[in-house]
Amino acid sequence: MSESTETRRPANRVLPHELPASLRDAGLGNWIREPLDDAVDRRRRIIMPPAAAVMGTPASAYQGALLAEARHPDTVFMMGDNPALPAMPVRPTLRDFFRLRFSKIARTHLLQSARVARENGLDEKVIMACLLHDIAIAGLLPANHGYWGAQMVAPYVDEEVAWSIEKHEALRYFPDESVGYTYPEAYIDYFGPDYSPPEYIRQEAKAARQHRWYMTSRLVTINDIYSFDPNVVVDYDEFEDVVGRNFRQPEEGLGFDGSPVAHMWRTMIWPNNFL
Ligand SMILES: [Fe+2]
Ligand SMILES: [Fe+2]
Repeated sequence: MSESTETRRPANRVLPHELPASLRDAGLGNWIREPLDDAVDRRRRIIMPPAAAVMGTPASAYQGALLAEARHPDTVFMMGDNPALPAMPVRPTLRDFFRLRFSKIARTHLLQSARVARENGLDEKVIMACLLHDIAIAGLLPANHGYWGAQMVAPYVDEEVAWSIEKHEALRYFPDESVGYTYPEAYIDYFGPDYSPPEYIRQEAKAARQHRWYMTSRLVTINDIYSFDPNVVVDYDEFEDVVGRNFRQPEEGLGFDGSPVAHMWRTMIWPNNFL
């Protein structure tokens, strides 16, 4: 190695930075990863929280402070693998996202919903839709999750599966007594007893009800289980066969097949990338 290359390398030993007290108190330490032993090049890495996560919160005021921190010579923004997350394989499959990216609570919710659908003897399209229905909450964004989720999986599943994932978001708010579906108790806790869905959601639900695939999406809502019991264990392997028949796994791996939604999967592989 030439001497000039040597001098450009970051110092071997980086002392922990003392953040000003005001920034420490504001929780900025949560977004800065000190160079631990597992870090490749011993530099501090800053994670800039996404706008969608901080807009409307005090944390949005600290964008400038984080940019200033990045000007330290031993500090860079997070790009590529975050050592705090398990590394993903080169060609990730749906299974890898379930196991290496989704939180236990999100994973269990999806697997449990799919299990109930299977126990109820429902069609594989319904089981597949249940398995994927909240995938956007699990890995991307909760707001508009039905729409994000449907787009993410659309190139890989039957059109009816993607449609029912999209529409479950609106249908969840509206009872259908003919099939025994009532307004979710959990929503009273989540949104308060006075919550009323906005007009666009009402319109979506009304239109979905007239659609030929209505019952597929309705069955997603019926099997949408809100029992987040941490002791319930459902293994992804239980659904490997259903996924094999109903999810066209791209050879290049999810995120690298050049599809119009590949960037969404890459965002879940490297969720902390600055850009
Ligand atoms: Fe949902
Ligand atoms: Fe759900």
